[in-house]
Amino acid sequence: MASIVDKVAEKVGDLSLTGDKGPEVYVDEEKGSDEKGAGTVAAPYATAVHAMTVKGHDINILTRKKDAQEYQPITKSALKNVKKTVETNERKSKKAAEEAEKNAKTAAEAKAREERRIEESKKIVLVEDSSLPKPTRSKIEGLQPLREQRVRVFGWVHRLRQQKEMTFIVLRDGTGFLQCILAGRCAQTYDALILTTESTVELVGTVQPVPEGKTAPGGHELIVDFWRTLGAAPGGDDAFNNRFNEQSDASVLADLRHLTIRGETAAAVLHVRAAVLNAFRTTFVKHSLTEVTPPCMVQTQVEGGSTLFEFDYYGQKAYLTQSSQLYLETCLPSLGDVFCIQESFRAEKSLTRRHLSEYTHLEAELCFITFDDLMTHIENIICETIDVLLSDPRMAELVQMLNPGFKPPKRPFLRMDYRDAIKYLNDHGIQRPDEVTGEIGDHVIGDDIAEAAERQMTDQLNVPIFLNKFPKEIKAFYMKPIPGDPKYTESVDLLMPGVGEIVGGSMRIADMQELLKAYKREGIDPEPYYWFTDQRKYGTCEHGGYGLGVERFLAWLTKRWTVRECSLYPRWMGRATP
Ligand code: 4AD
Repeated sequence: MASIVDKVAEKVGDLSLTGDKGPEVYVDEEKGSDEKGAGTVAAPYATAVHAMTVKGHDINILTRKKDAQEYQPITKSALKNVKKTVETNERKSKKAAEEAEKNAKTAAEAKAREERRIEESKKIVLVEDSSLPKPTRSKIEGLQPLREQRVRVFGWVHRLRQQKEMTFIVLRDGTGFLQCILAGRCAQTYDALILTTESTVELVGTVQPVPEGKTAPGGHELIVDFWRTLGAAPGGDDAFNNRFNEQSDASVLADLRHLTIRGETAAAVLHVRAAVLNAFRTTFVKHSLTEVTPPCMVQTQVEGGSTLFEFDYYGQKAYLTQSSQLYLETCLPSLGDVFCIQESFRAEKSLTRRHLSEYTHLEAELCFITFDDLMTHIENIICETIDVLLSDPRMAELVQMLNPGFKPPKRPFLRMDYRDAIKYLNDHGIQRPDEVTGEIGDHVIGDDIAEAAERQMTDQLNVPIFLNKFPKEIKAFYMKPIPGDPKYTESVDLLMPGVGEIVGGSMRIADMQELLKAYKREGIDPEPYYWFTDQRKYGTCEHGGYGLGVERFLAWLTKRWTVRECSLYPRWMGRATP
């Protein structure tokens, strides 16, 4: 144990070390502050390391641990540690400063080099070489037969990679993608240096198959010998790639739909959509249905008043059409079986992933048929349309890209009576809230099966289902009651896994008196329907038809989460922009 004498000696040694070497600097470990302090009694520092860093090595540090204590000269050992730390810090800062200076120099040199390069680039003017073979103007999809030849293409810079001596562009023109290589003078022009994605360009060059082992869209690339920018897209903060990304808020993506449709997935869905409409038309024509174009502005309702868009222009009540069905019925005596592909409008009050307020409605009407014929027809049209679509290799590829593993559905589709569906739901514990009490319970006959329950059942069975013969009271006024079972109707919904209902159809009341009774029962004024009623007066026939929601069909086919992805500019409650 150290004696009193030793301790005194140590203290004296300490004092002699700090002595009166320099100005006094005060450190209060409890109340001092390195940020606000000045090293004085009134404003002490908090650490000795800071004191030495700021005031230099030749100082006389007086410290105290607690505010209430007297200041004491710093001990010898503490001072040693402080010095060590300060010296280490000083070495580090010196090194960092040297590094920063070196970096700044390198950056300045690079900037100067870049500026020289830009200045040089401005002197390079590309001229189309007229001594070369004349290029053939082509869309990207038409390049295969033009391999090894000079071509001229136009499009948008979909992707861009700039290397020192080369610029790689993936060009997009709506018909496909093309890898383009700019080398030599082509990559040295000012336009090449400042090129941005989504700029429009004109490129002339030779189409070459890609070297063995490499891949590119179409299996070839364009070796460019002349090019120019037609419309430069902005860079920096306003650059296309900075406007949105996959994580952007859904409302931002909806506002920017005009830009998001340039993306590969969105464009693929729109390409498939166009081909689906063509394929349906081909199939309808093959089945001797004639296309008609009924009006969108109407004065009659088809599917109930709650979803009608009403407007006042004609000085009489008018609506945007909910369905062209009634008009199609009037075409039967004129043209025979008919179809239309027309926008329908529904003022839907709920926001679901399968409801739009404007959607593309594909409807058909057939005369002299039975209910069974109707279902077989729907099944044939859908399956044949898918066959037509997939016989185009590009569409087969896009469908597989969007919905990997997609297989066309097998015929015949499962036919399920509404009453059996209610039993299925109850047997499988798929319940619903009671309309009045809100209590969860079993389904009962008469229920309008809700979207969630319907989808659960469809997903469990995982096949297309013709859910048919719904009760009269939950269906539209025009539906034909089942002969001998008049509380139920010859009606059918086609349910698809993942989406639910994509088709709604029925046989129609063919008898005039029966139709007049139906108007009365539903409280519909027959007057505006005079033309519809006349169909029953001048040569009636058993007939039926259906409507297919094109966006729902696409959501099923391309496995999209919502129908909003399947519409060019989707509209739903609260959204009519852009
Ligand atoms: O079942 P719905 O209401 O039937 C009719 O309109 C009949 N008049 C059609 C006819 O027989 N000609 O609608 C038919 C289909 C639905 O199965 C669904 O696919 C789609 O139209 N549909 C909608 N799609 C998107 N958004 C909405 N709000 C839709 N409402 C119906």
